[in-house]
Amino acid sequence: MSGFDTGWLALREPADKAARNELLLAELASYLEGLEAPTIMDIGCGTGSTYRSLSGRFPVNAYWQLVDYDQLLLAEAERLIGSAAVSYHRKDLTDLSTLTLEGVSLMTASAFFDLCSGAFCEDLAEYLSTKRIGLYTALNYDGRISWSDPHELDLEIVGAFNRHQRGDKGFGVALGPQAAAHLEGAFTCLGYRTKTADSTWHLDLSHAALQEAFLRGMVSPVAEVSDLNQDQLSTWFDFRLAKLHAGGRLDVGHIDLLALPL
Ligand SMILES: C[S@@+](CC[C@H](N)C(=O)[O-])C[C@H]1O[C@@H](n2cnc3c(N)ncnc32)[C@H](O)[C@@H]1O
Repeated sequence: MSGFDTGWLALREPADKAARNELLLAELASYLEGLEAPTIMDIGCGTGSTYRSLSGRFPVNAYWQLVDYDQLLLAEAERLIGSAAVSYHRKDLTDLSTLTLEGVSLMTASAFFDLCSGAFCEDLAEYLSTKRIGLYTALNYDGRISWSDPHELDLEIVGAFNRHQRGDKGFGVALGPQAAAHLEGAFTCLGYRTKTADSTWHLDLSHAALQEAFLRGMVSPVAEVSDLNQDQLSTWFDFRLAKLHAGGRLDVGHIDLLALPL
């Protein structure tokens, strides 16, 4: 169990799909068109959201390998996708030596690298570069959270949330909001052509369930690392909940990165 439940992943999938940066996707699609029968490895695949968002845009003869260490999420991915052109692999990515890159043309990931350490990202970049494999990684949280109705505790709460994002999520100290910038630096040093682009979530009342789940998900991380007391947190939470159900908007910043071998 990874702690990422299928309900949360299903809730965020439409917002992720809408937020993916179009320009990077178009560039990636044209790169893949130049490859014959590409094999795409999606790491930290969860229930297969990346596959569902991208497979229709990529060459029809593409083959996908979906990798995650959570058996429940992999089983759900297989139930939802079940395609003959997809294989499912249970692997703990903290041990990169278990990842076989033979025949892989491109690696993808979504909402994954902010969990990872700088050292892991550098090692992975080096590993991919030995076979000149490109990386497309979307929805890397970048630390920006803002609401249409400000509250005096927002700044402190977002700061605490971002500090918590830097905690160990299994890979050592996580990059959190620095993930896309760190990866871009690593791939640039290895002679890749890199491009980053915005994929911010812009959520309104039509995303009330996602907004509420995101808000609820902020409370314990913030309580863990901030000096705010329970009353302050509850007051802030009740204010936010009331505003979101009254039509308040929430933006959550993300960055997509495309790193291709020259
Ligand atoms: C936020 S979820 C994103 C899932 C999916 N990419 C999506 O966009 O819906 C992060 C995923 O990374 C996986 N993950 C986290 N640590 C991992 C590890 N050490 N090895 C393999 N997968 C891992 C989790 O199981 C989860 O599926």
